[in-house]
Amino acid sequence: MGRVRLRAAKESDMSSIRTYIERFQLDDENMSFEQFIVAEKGSRIVGFGRIKHYESCYELACLGVLEPYRNQEIGAAIVKKLMEVFPDNEIWITTDIPKYFERFGFELAKDAPQEIKDKIKGVCHAKHRPDAVIMSLRKS
Ligand SMILES: CC(C)(COP(=O)(O)OP(=O)(O)OC[C@H]1O[C@@H](n2cnc3c(N)ncnc32)[C@H](O)[C@@H]1OP(=O)(O)O)[C@@H](O)C(=O)NCCC(=O)NCCS
Repeated sequence: MGRVRLRAAKESDMSSIRTYIERFQLDDENMSFEQFIVAEKGSRIVGFGRIKHYESCYELACLGVLEPYRNQEIGAAIVKKLMEVFPDNEIWITTDIPKYFERFGFELAKDAPQEIKDKIKGVCHAKHRPDAVIMSLRKS
């Protein structure tokens, strides 16, 4: 089956990505393929993640790994790659699994851009993630 490879998503990946995003109840707002990277094993997409654009900031979002491929550090590789190519110094995330993101240095945010706060009220609740919190990490 080969190694896991990370690459930029293509338009043709979006139908699989949309299916998994729906299954994992992740943020499906304003999606476009340019925002995603995928983890691929052979020709199969086994994970993905996204840099979501807002007017005033960016969010590391939509992290997902298919169930049979979990606990093999694929999620960690996707997070690290997105952090590396992140277009801003301040990385925002909204998540209901803060413990997972602490390992990369993310901390609970005391304040956040209004658009991120709105996401907690809007998308996270709509996706049945009432426990979602805002975290952030400053790259340098
Ligand atoms: C969260 C997710 C992306 C992790 O992917 P993964 O490839 O299995 O993660 P990794 O292999 O990098 O990390 C595994 C470690 O994270 C821990 N972990 C996995 N899910 C966790 C969770 N929900 N909460 C806390 N820790 C978690 C594992 O226990 C493991 O810990 P260890 O290294 O101490 O053994 C994957 O479980 C997933 O797709 N979940 C559903 C979608 C989701 O909730 N996405 C995040 C929304 S913000």
